[in-house]
Amino acid sequence: MAQMDTQRYKAQERAGFNRIAADYADGAPLRAQLANALLDAAGLAPGQQVLDLASGPALLATAAAQRVAPGGLVLATDIAESMMAEGRRRTAGSARPAFAVADAEQLGLAGGRFDRVLAGLALFLFPQPDKALDEVRRVLRPGGRFVLSVWGARDRVPLIGCALDGIARGLPPPKVARPSVCRYGEPGALEATLSQAGFDDIRLQPCEFACRFDDADAYWQAFLGLAGGAAEALSRVPAEGLAKVRAATADALEAYRDADGGYRLSTLTLIASARCPA
Ligand SMILES: C[S@@+](CC[C@H](N)C(=O)[O-])C[C@H]1O[C@@H](n2cnc3c(N)ncnc32)[C@H](O)[C@@H]1O
Repeated sequence: MAQMDTQRYKAQERAGFNRIAADYADGAPLRAQLANALLDAAGLAPGQQVLDLASGPALLATAAAQRVAPGGLVLATDIAESMMAEGRRRTAGSARPAFAVADAEQLGLAGGRFDRVLAGLALFLFPQPDKALDEVRRVLRPGGRFVLSVWGARDRVPLIGCALDGIARGLPPPKVARPSVCRYGEPGALEATLSQAGFDDIRLQPCEFACRFDDADAYWQAFLGLAGGAAEALSRVPAEGLAKVRAATADALEAYRDADGGYRLSTLTLIASARCPA
């Protein structure tokens, strides 16, 4: 299988997340429990300087800005400019984040200035995560903390797993291998990655939340509003191929039928908090 071209990969993610910016923001209630748990794990306090990496429409950043007021500052950053525009459009008032379009692997920010760096559901999207982790360590002040969430192991994340199963069954295999977005959910993987990147005092906690969908169509729209790269790739699939993917996804969903005729999907994520050594 061909090697992944990191610039092409990033361009597809950026185009995809630009495409779904408004839908991603509208889907926030699905992930509210995870967002709150990450913010609690971050131990935010008034006056802190916070960077939110791969912020999307700045949902975490906006809530963080309220927790660090008065006197604090949150900078929301993302590679997708429509995400930043969506965030700007939806936030108002005095305790709101600042915004900057930036690649997490090359932030272009001064070092040693943040008390916290946050990254919700993002590390697995970076083609060179070691570069992003070096950037996180560089911009944190000594003793500052990196607080992030990732998907759990593949079989515990039907929220995206059913659609990924449908894509795998409905379409020919990809020509270029992509790393699994669930890879940090494998036992020990996230802790090892953070430790190898030079962080210490690594604390992990699971966060499980349930999503309910009335039918397979509602599930599919939620998936497309969450997975930018997949939404971008699927936008180029002819109708016949898409119909096969949708049918295979509906089959995969059957395992999650509830008593009311819809689907209830319990999804596992991990939250980590890791310290930048002094
Ligand atoms: C699943 S969303 C997560 C958004 C937000 N952090 C949250 O918790 O809801 C992933 C975000 O990562 C952004 N992203 C992907 N690759 C990136 C990169 N290399 N640098 C910065 N942002 C990136 C996407 O544009 C998207 O907004």
